[in-house]
Amino acid sequence: MDHTDVTTPDDAEFEKIVHCTDPDTGLDSVIAIHSTTLGPSLGGIRMKRYPSHDAAAADAKRLAQAMSYKAAMAGLDLGGGKSVINADPTAQNRAELLLAHGRAIEALGGQYIPAVDMGTTIADLDLIAGVVTTVSSRLRDPSEFTAAGVVAAIRAAVQETEGVSLDGVRIGIQGLGNVGARIALLLFAEGARLVVADIDTERAHRVAASTGAQVVSPAEVLTAEVDVLCPCAAGGVVTTARTDSLPARYVIGAANNVLADPALAARLRERDIVHVPDFVANAGGLIACAAEVIQDDTGLHARVENIGETTLSLLRAADVRGQDTVTTALQLAKERIADRRAVAGSVR
Ligand code: NAI
Repeated sequence: MDHTDVTTPDDAEFEKIVHCTDPDTGLDSVIAIHSTTLGPSLGGIRMKRYPSHDAAAADAKRLAQAMSYKAAMAGLDLGGGKSVINADPTAQNRAELLLAHGRAIEALGGQYIPAVDMGTTIADLDLIAGVVTTVSSRLRDPSEFTAAGVVAAIRAAVQETEGVSLDGVRIGIQGLGNVGARIALLLFAEGARLVVADIDTERAHRVAASTGAQVVSPAEVLTAEVDVLCPCAAGGVVTTARTDSLPARYVIGAANNVLADPALAARLRERDIVHVPDFVANAGGLIACAAEVIQDDTGLHARVENIGETTLSLLRAADVRGQDTVTTALQLAKERIADRRAVAGSVR
């Protein structure tokens, strides 16, 4: 299930929405540029078969809007954009579709920088680089940076709330793919006691073998007696019913749109459960993509670790404002974009 933590935004909120069709290849795609106030928009190309072009456009818009807020919260000079190709990722003419989509991206003159997303690979981005001047996540998988950022967010939240390190803290990880498996190793190195789950049980046992983790089922990890729940598989795992019975005191993970409904953030706050929104915790990959674009990895590790500082600022701001962390993070992101727009306006 693919949820988003922002409602489908109005077209008026977007700088540009390009609907692409190409009779030669059968391309049906959408490029949504939400904002370039902070810099060129960067976001993945998602390849997925949608029920309709409108459904694809709605997804592109929601994802592009979320990228604006993710980049703003990560302190990056990047805007938010996303594109979707409405096609089965196993399509026979996959390369032709990607190249036709790439030509539409190039026509935007650098306003949208594509990266890898669900249904596309690093090799796809490398292919697209043949027709697009600026492409990201062409050289490396951003997952290790995403993992490091999530761990920085967990460490900062636990330290801020309880004044302790992760040594001995019990952490449940749901999903042990590119990001989750790396998170497990990083947390193990800091002394955390892990409970892990994946629908691929072999994968779960492999991770357990190198981290001493206890393996449970994907459903059990949500009710396990852990301090921190770290969702790294699908979105929407924290539902209304689960929010009221969650044993964990922290919900911090890589999965996009962990809350089935963003309004649940307020309920988590009422229950004193510390929640770091996905678009804050999982920004490490985007930070690495941004470094790749400018071909400068100087200080990259420190910038990813800085997600810990961003987490602290967010938790403190939410306390001061007396509201949940999702509402506060969205406000902080919008404030940063509005401030930049005001400065740009006064210069003009
Ligand atoms: P992945 O596809 O490599 O791994 C997902 C893992 O979750 C797989 O091992 C899969 O078997 C498992 N899984 C699927 N459904 C499950 C369930 N119900 N219960 C338990 N395990 C389940 O994906 P990746 O790259 O590790 O990403 C994980 C999440 O983080 C996704 O939601 C993704 O959108 C998000 N994310 C990833 C970033 C990255 O840099 N890879 C960046 C930002 C967000």
